[in-house]
Amino acid sequence: MTATKRPKLVVSTGAGISAESGISTFRDADGLWENYDVMEVASHDGYVRNPALIHQFYNDRRAALAGVEPNAAHKILKELERDFDVYVVTQNVDDLHERAGSSNIVHLHGELTKVRATDDESLTFDVGYLDRTTPDTVIDGHHVRPHIVFFQEDVPMFATAAELASEADIFVIVGTSLAVYPAAGLLGYVRRGVPVYYIDPAPSRVPAGVTVIRKPATEGMAELARLLTKEKNDR
Ligand code: APR
Repeated sequence: MTATKRPKLVVSTGAGISAESGISTFRDADGLWENYDVMEVASHDGYVRNPALIHQFYNDRRAALAGVEPNAAHKILKELERDFDVYVVTQNVDDLHERAGSSNIVHLHGELTKVRATDDESLTFDVGYLDRTTPDTVIDGHHVRPHIVFFQEDVPMFATAAELASEADIFVIVGTSLAVYPAAGLLGYVRRGVPVYYIDPAPSRVPAGVTVIRKPATEGMAELARLLTKEKNDR
């Protein structure tokens, strides 16, 4: 009896998967970028210009995590680990995938619950939801900054994410507008013939050849889980 290889399920998630947890997306109506100037609070130039404002912006977003929970979409991703090798590649900086229990998570754009040394970007420190840092904060002798990839900065985890996409037996996109590169380009690393599903209630751009599940993440992930589990049992 040869052990059947568990299919590799690679899931690319964006702000939409956290929307039903109460975290606003960026580009929907009343999204974060409608209320803040992205170049002021999320770009490298903005950080150089006004680091105190950037610390405050991410302190506030981190504090909001104390009041939200993972939703059914995050939890279904954990449940799928029963039948699949699940790898989550997320653009989100919230910790909802961690709190839902996902085992393999790659954060492309950083993490709200961490800060990093300004003089050694490999040195990160966990901070609590309600901790507030400033440009004068010193941890273990290092000044710190939010562990966030700002616009105009490199995305060091992209190579890892692209390799995962190239190994996927099934690729799923959930809750991202596919507006920001290189994250939006992950689909290009998926082998031909690998099924691709895109869960989004109002996708603004639909790549060719993907199966769209035009539903919110909680409903779409439930539908996809049924589909994938049925396909696996029929095999
Ligand atoms: N379920 C699933 N998808 C949803 C839901 C929901 N309940 N609500 C909204 N969406 C979809 C929207 O239709 C949209 O396609 O989620 C997507 C959110 O798109 P954006 O707001 O652009 O978020 P995202 O794609 O994650 O942004 C990428 O941009 O500003 C940067 O660094 C930031 O990581 C972020 C990156």
